[in-house]
Amino acid sequence: MCGIVGYVGHREAWPLIFEGLQRLEYRGYDSAGIAVVDSAGQFHLRKTVGKVNGLALNHNQAMPQGTIGLGHTRWATHGKPSYANAHPHTDCGGHVAVVHNGIVENFLELKRRLLDAGHSFKSETDTEVITHLIEEGLDQGFSFEDAFLRMGGLLKGSQAITATYTEEPGKLCVLRLGHAGGIVVAHRNGEGIVGSDLPAVLPLIRDGSKAGQVAFLDAGEMAAVTREGVDYRDLEGNRLDKELRDVSQDEMVIDKGGYRHFMLKEMMEQPQAVTSALRNRVDFQAGRIDLPELPFSQQEIQQFQRVVLIGCGTSLHAAQVGRHMMERLGGIPAEAESASEFRYRDPLIDQRTLVVSIAQSGETADTVAAMQIVAEKGGRLITICNVEGSQSTRLAEATLYTHSGVEIGVASTKTFISALTVLSLLGAYLGQARGFLTPEATRAVVDDLARCPRLIGEILADTARYEKLAQRFYKYENFLFLGRGVNAPIALEGALKLKEVSYIHAEGYPAGEMKHGPIALIDRGMATLALAPRDSLYDKMVNNILEVKARDGVVLALMTEGDDDLASQVDEALYIPEATELLVPLLSVVPLQLLAYHIALLRDCDVDQPRNLAKTVTVE
Ligand code: AGP
Repeated sequence: MCGIVGYVGHREAWPLIFEGLQRLEYRGYDSAGIAVVDSAGQFHLRKTVGKVNGLALNHNQAMPQGTIGLGHTRWATHGKPSYANAHPHTDCGGHVAVVHNGIVENFLELKRRLLDAGHSFKSETDTEVITHLIEEGLDQGFSFEDAFLRMGGLLKGSQAITATYTEEPGKLCVLRLGHAGGIVVAHRNGEGIVGSDLPAVLPLIRDGSKAGQVAFLDAGEMAAVTREGVDYRDLEGNRLDKELRDVSQDEMVIDKGGYRHFMLKEMMEQPQAVTSALRNRVDFQAGRIDLPELPFSQQEIQQFQRVVLIGCGTSLHAAQVGRHMMERLGGIPAEAESASEFRYRDPLIDQRTLVVSIAQSGETADTVAAMQIVAEKGGRLITICNVEGSQSTRLAEATLYTHSGVEIGVASTKTFISALTVLSLLGAYLGQARGFLTPEATRAVVDDLARCPRLIGEILADTARYEKLAQRFYKYENFLFLGRGVNAPIALEGALKLKEVSYIHAEGYPAGEMKHGPIALIDRGMATLALAPRDSLYDKMVNNILEVKARDGVVLALMTEGDDDLASQVDEALYIPEATELLVPLLSVVPLQLLAYHIALLRDCDVDQPRNLAKTVTVE
């Protein structure tokens, strides 16, 4: 979490850093700050509690001037969101400024030692030890770069750090430790920029050019960025030759496209997201699926004994749906697990286990750590990911990109649909290769997927219904989401969307579990959203709905269009078009996203940046 930007060059640093921070706000927005060094070698520091825009608002004085600086947008870990805890942090002498993303795991021990040595602290953050460690190195006669490297060697934990020092003006030192915090470095025409992610470096590599070159720091690497160029070193100080990567502007373009919120825009993009995920992977004429990205031979695919799907949050829910797809389409035993649990239970993995990690960002700390464990144990590892060049894509043997385009809304929507699309392709591809799916069955999958964008479009068009339902339900403080089979994870996802964006307490439950406890909650104050499309478990779901109604519960049921019988038994209805079981989860999640969005609007919530959250969770 947290976003870092640093700039050194010949332009004013403030606006470039400010713009970069705005682009990184998806990583956290508890507070923000920028430090610029002026031509006299003095720091000008500006901070704000809350979002990045606060740095520009309510300040009558001119923006700080200077051609080198660094900035930060924070997702609080150590110390509450406050002015004092906002980055950049400075040392006792006020010569070193630091921004930081991640956690210094041994900060208490370091802080005690630094306090004993006479350093004084101004914040409750773990970050501040970094400033004093650099100061300590400088006091011992090290150069800035060496003091910075020395500091890196004293820290435990995964993190990314950027620092500047007024006595050696014109230099930014950047470090990545472990896998929690990414760092991108770009340099051209006498200007250098660093950022936590690609959008932050856009100001430097756009300017009429179609593409730019960047370097991604790996764990244990540092960069010293000056106007003259970039020196890369490892933690021992050895020089490194970093490979530069081409990136297109498309990877970085962010715009609401006329919609009121990114979340709305991204929900509306879902038909396109499915199409993009299918592109070049499906032969619609022949009715076949090909995933050329996968490195497995036919024999290896046949030898896989199970598939393990891992992810966090919405990506975990995609994994749980994916489990059904692997079993039904691929004919292979599958399990889905939270990456944060998987990584700590010494899982049994061998080379006949195919592990599929699912991640929008590819930077989620728990998912990345779980992937490392799989790689160490010799499992076969692929990832379904949206962000090019992210850590997941670098750790996996192969990546099935979702190609959804940038997702800015903190609540994942289009990337969930894309992940489900890719998972259905993967399931069917394995099924083809293992001889489990007949050519006719594969053709049916292909035809279903071809229909999917149109059907999602039909759901999205019914805006008036979601607005009306939101009016009826926005004052409820408790929601229960129920579903069975492949819709059980959709119930979890519906509950997650609602709680994330509207702050309503919502629980997702497999409907069969309701009578084992949650039924005690049912009364007039609890709304139940039941997923009851016409599928093989329809009758069971109807029973659950009637059980809720028998206890005076209020039921909003999601059903197949034309199901008047069920509509007459419940308080309100949401509809999806008639579809096969494969498509149902891709369709049924859409009304739940839209309902959550409209309820959040009526509750005056910040749908794109809900409180306490961050788009990319790079701490565990
Ligand atoms: C989704 O709405 C959430 N904001 C969150 O649960 C997210 O899905 C999770 O943090 C995982 O992110 P990833 O897909 O980038 O790994």
